[in-house]
Amino acid sequence: MALDTTALNRQMTHFDGHDAIWLFGYGSLIWKVDFPYIQRRPAHIHGWSRRFWQGSHDHRGTPEAPGRVATLVREPGAVCHGMAYRITQEVLAPLDVREKNGYLREVVPLHFADGESEEGLIYLATEENAAFLGDAPLDAIAEQIARAHGPSGPNRDYLLHLAEALRDLEVDDPHVFALASRLAQATDTPRR
Ligand code: SIN
Repeated sequence: MALDTTALNRQMTHFDGHDAIWLFGYGSLIWKVDFPYIQRRPAHIHGWSRRFWQGSHDHRGTPEAPGRVATLVREPGAVCHGMAYRITQEVLAPLDVREKNGYLREVVPLHFADGESEEGLIYLATEENAAFLGDAPLDAIAEQIARAHGPSGPNRDYLLHLAEALRDLEVDDPHVFALASRLAQATDTPRR
């Protein structure tokens, strides 16, 4: 079972003394916005790629049959597009609980379309966390997502909502779109 990162995240003091901070969402935080925010702006971060390499035991899968959700992996030259939210500090406590299955807060530079940049927070699940699943053939990842289901619903919904949100943002993400099209094939093919 994965380590609960809530307590570790609460120890982070980087933003103490600020009334509001930027949070950058690249996975469910793009499309499942169940927290209050002051402002929202599309943004991107450099040197990171979005990958379905993180296991989900608590939202989109179970400890026995984990699902797969997004994390970021370092890739020089890569750009990851998502959504930035200006939030107040209190919003972080429930987010720490939501992201507790291996994600740790990390500070990164955020860039906006108008050329502005700001420091912001991401929830990052590195390969050191116990729920990390890592790379696998795309067909295998899509199959796992097609099968997995957890307290927050089917794993496939996570992937399809993310693909739709990225399309709305006019963002091309070959990893996400390749998985979404394989998921459609996995679902159309009768299982024996
Ligand atoms: C994020 O969306 O930025 C973090 C990962 C997730 O909650 O899906």
